[in-house]
Amino acid sequence: MGSVLSCCEDEKVDAGGFTPSGGGSSTWRIFTYKELHTATSGFSEENKLGEGGFGSVYWGKTTDGLQIAVKKLKAMNSKAEMEFAVEVEVLGRVRHKNLLGLRGYCAGADQRLIVYDYMPNLSLLSHLHGQFSNEVQLDWKRRISIAIGSAEGLVYLHHEVTPHIIHRDIKASNVLLNSDFEPLVADFGFAKLIPDGVSHMTTRVKGTLGYLAPEYAMWGKVSESCDVYSYGILLLEILTGRKPIEKLPGGVKRTITEWAEPYILKGKFKDLLDPKLKGNCDENQLKQAINVAALCVQSEPERRPNMKEVVNLLRGFDPKGHARQMRIESIKYGEDLMNQDQASSDEEVGDEDESKGYGVFGAMEVQRMHDPYAHHTVRKTATYG
Ligand SMILES: Nc1ncnc2c1ncn2[C@@H]1O[C@H](COP(=O)(O)OP(=O)(O)OP(=O)(O)O)[C@@H](O)[C@H]1O
Ligand SMILES: [Mg+2]
Repeated sequence: MGSVLSCCEDEKVDAGGFTPSGGGSSTWRIFTYKELHTATSGFSEENKLGEGGFGSVYWGKTTDGLQIAVKKLKAMNSKAEMEFAVEVEVLGRVRHKNLLGLRGYCAGADQRLIVYDYMPNLSLLSHLHGQFSNEVQLDWKRRISIAIGSAEGLVYLHHEVTPHIIHRDIKASNVLLNSDFEPLVADFGFAKLIPDGVSHMTTRVKGTLGYLAPEYAMWGKVSESCDVYSYGILLLEILTGRKPIEKLPGGVKRTITEWAEPYILKGKFKDLLDPKLKGNCDENQLKQAINVAALCVQSEPERRPNMKEVVNLLRGFDPKGHARQMRIESIKYGEDLMNQDQASSDEEVGDEDESKGYGVFGAMEVQRMHDPYAHHTVRKTATYG
């Protein structure tokens, strides 16, 4: 670890080369600050790809021609240094075709920078709701392959890598698209980077309202099932083109499950399809995918499928003969939580500015209250908050 913590001088150091188990880049290395500064034109505004809970992301090009995305973390204290090193070590070992692995990092006295491969088609968010949404580059086939690929990335994190990793912030801006529109899930493993008590960690740990599993939003209970819940919301978003939380004219906020519920009950699956697809889809696949999403967003975590089952179901392979559920549970976040949802509070439906950090949930405190899951099964549809 010593080399990790003292890396950011001017020399180039080769680091974690190893054989990839899935895909993606095979090596990472330590970058110097100078190198990254030059690559990103001094972290200029023109190079800025966006901003999230951890800091800003910049496009850059290294002297050997590699296009990179550099995440410049907000300042961290010394206690976090070891955590940073450990996290980087873990991330450096994660290799899967659907996970955005580490290309490198730089850890100077007061700087933390993470280097990834640049994804030319940016995020799923930019295609569903952002700058590319009018171009409709995501046809049905691409959407299904993005849904399956993202799920496969999660299978790897939950079931294959050691130690297992819970993402905690599955959402459209964390699914990046390569030049072939294949999905790469990003930002796993960094939730622990910023120590408790630092405000933007609060934002980060709490994830993004709209995608948050109720047991996590209310009691801070983290498990793989939280990711499954968020994935279910993401899947609905991919299929319907709607945001997890929409602000209706008049200011009322509505979750995607509340919107979808009546259509699913009536079996009107085609009406759920993103209108941008103009009806072009495989109807059986649509029905199956809606069912998978409905299974994932059940309020009781133990009733949700695991990600392996999700992949099997999406591929049309149904070993358990899952009875088609064809109903969806709507989690109604309490008003106080909705009011803290910074992004949707200043967005009307149709707002397309991704740079606002859409969906980022403000510093919500986890409510330390009685946990109903510990004692009995909770009601299926509940008002949380
Ligand atoms: N490797 C990359 N290639 C291209 N764009 C990227 C890359 N990494 C991040 N981005 C884009 O940069 C922007 C900021 O990303 P960042 O991860 O910091 O924030 P976020 O995903 O919006 O929120 P969060 O902090 O919760 O992850 C997003 O629009 C994201 O899609
Ligand atoms: Mg992100």
